[in-house]
Amino acid sequence: MILAIETSCDDTCAAVVTRDGEIRSNIISSQGVHARFGGVVPEIASRQHLTLLQPVIDQALDTAGVSLEQITLVAATRGPGLVAALLVGFSAAKALAAARRLPFAAVDHLHGHLAASFLKPTELEPPFLALIASGGHTLLADVRDHGPQPALLGQTLDDAAGEAFDKGARLLGLGYPGGAALERLAREGDAEAFEFPTGARMGGLDFSFAGLKTALLYRVRELGEQQTELCRADLAASYQRAIVESLTLRVRRALRATSATRLAVGGGVAANGALRAALEQLGVELDIPARELCTDNAAMIASAARYTPALAFPDYLTLDVYASGERTLAA
Ligand code: KG4
Ligand code: ZN
Repeated sequence: MILAIETSCDDTCAAVVTRDGEIRSNIISSQGVHARFGGVVPEIASRQHLTLLQPVIDQALDTAGVSLEQITLVAATRGPGLVAALLVGFSAAKALAAARRLPFAAVDHLHGHLAASFLKPTELEPPFLALIASGGHTLLADVRDHGPQPALLGQTLDDAAGEAFDKGARLLGLGYPGGAALERLAREGDAEAFEFPTGARMGGLDFSFAGLKTALLYRVRELGEQQTELCRADLAASYQRAIVESLTLRVRRALRATSATRLAVGGGVAANGALRAALEQLGVELDIPARELCTDNAAMIASAARYTPALAFPDYLTLDVYASGERTLAA
């Protein structure tokens, strides 16, 4: 039985998962406190993790109906993420493992997102192409096995897709995080009303969303307050179309490059209906895990831990977290 902890950003998560990938509990405590700042404040996230982590771990064990004595492997996200936030979960997990002389798996967060697809009951078997699009990352990976080193085909050069949604939402006066609100507003608008850049001329499989956000900013300025108010739904729909087209275009290229016949999608943006509809048109088998497995969670970290070499006590005690540099995904 695996106990996993994830605290890379603003969700405090703990989960219990069996060695063969059955989720026994998956507890996610989202920190609402960041909304009024319009983004995640690392120091506040860190302090919130300190408060929430123990009750979240207790609840994960309770819900699973297991005691700490039944845990045979402890896992935690090592990076990439906010260092101050990662440290809370990583240190707690190491201490839990050390106290019982248990083995420990230090999991890469992006491997975790991919490993969400390995969980029961859907249990997708490699090979497949994976698109991860969240508030913190946007990438395409060629998943050929379960291990921590899938080939990274492309990633964002600037903003993440979720960040693009959030920044667009902010420009249109919606709250934070604004992806879901922007999608709701877009349903009432005309997606062809405005032309926004999709980076179609940019070859390859990398993404870029910074220009798109700037284009919306300029369009809003040009229109002025009154006109913007009248066109908000059209702006949202057109902006969303540009993000969806940008993602879909690169997925199509990657499918062609890898001859993959299956596509797994993860990250918070996978909840977007327009994106799902566009990906369904690609003619490949589509695997989108349940919403709570797409967004940050610890069940996916436990799943990745099954395929991450575990360290014996006391070898893990000196391990540190990483913000971005040391990621294990092969570039
Ligand atoms: O995976 P996630 O929960 O957290 C990380 O960033 O790791 O993703 C959150 C992101 C936010 O940027 C949010 O605006 C976006 O996912 N999001 C959406 C939708 N729901 C959440 N974006 C577009 N449409 C949605 N329905
Ligand atoms: Zn994530």
